[in-house]
Amino acid sequence: MRACNVKQGTPVYSGKAKSLYRTDKEGELLVAFRDDITAFDGGKKDVLTEKGSLNAKVSARLFSLLEEHHIRTHFIRLIDNSSMLVRELEMIPLEVIVRNIAAGSMVRNYPISEGTPLDPPVIVIDYKDDSLHDPMLNDDLILAMKILSNDELVRMKELALRINIVLSRFFEARGIILVDFKLEFGKYGGDILVGDEISMDSMRLWDAKTKGSLDKDVYRFEKGDVLAVYRQVTDKVLKKGETL
Ligand code: ATP
Ligand code: TYD
Repeated sequence: MRACNVKQGTPVYSGKAKSLYRTDKEGELLVAFRDDITAFDGGKKDVLTEKGSLNAKVSARLFSLLEEHHIRTHFIRLIDNSSMLVRELEMIPLEVIVRNIAAGSMVRNYPISEGTPLDPPVIVIDYKDDSLHDPMLNDDLILAMKILSNDELVRMKELALRINIVLSRFFEARGIILVDFKLEFGKYGGDILVGDEISMDSMRLWDAKTKGSLDKDVYRFEKGDVLAVYRQVTDKVLKKGETL
């Protein structure tokens, strides 16, 4: 038995960084953020003690921030340092990436320089399937594959852009640039909710002054002390008294 009387039931799924469990309440799941960190399709793997709890705390704060801005998410509450209670969603197998500045795969795959501002932001949608290496989709493919209806696709992209505005302002107020990030959505009673996580594993963050990485790129490219950077971002995200 965990704190808050939530019972960790049978395992539902164990992915690269999180494990999902049933609870004693129908329609709710427990998401345990593990200390595993992976990159390059799982080709680089490590365990970093405390990383799960840092990502859980940041995700919880950012989901709450979105709820404060009337954007619905799966988040119910944190159960302990590294687990959250969520609404079970019918996950949409898409990774919705919003980009404010060209970086990462965008500069690897296209002739555009790192650091180029993208205004309006660019949305890229990948099909979530590790065995296919998450291929990029376009609107026609999403409709042809019947992953979403046109209305749902429009709504999901509109949500992604609204979330981008809320998160970008929040980080800007803390001296951090939100370069790009990945969202996963799921269906819930006729609505589309934000699911999964919003953490240093799923965002690309740069220090506004130095432009240094404050995210999983520190791990991917061995740029320094990953945990120290994750702690630094967590402290800024959790700092009280900043309302944005
Ligand atoms: P990747 O790392 O490529 O995102 P993964 O499956 O290895 O894939 P994890 O984060 O380890 O990722 O696993 C979490 C899983 O839980 C994901 O498959 C995600 O889609 C799913 N998930 C997240 N939120 C919910 C939810 N509210 N209801 C049901 N499933 C969820
Ligand atoms: P992207 O630049 O496409 O890939 P990479 O990080 O490998 O260079 O990533 C854009 C953003 O989306 C970045 O903040 C990391 C996040 N992301 C995920 O969280 N999971 C994923 O599977 C992918 C492809 C990206």
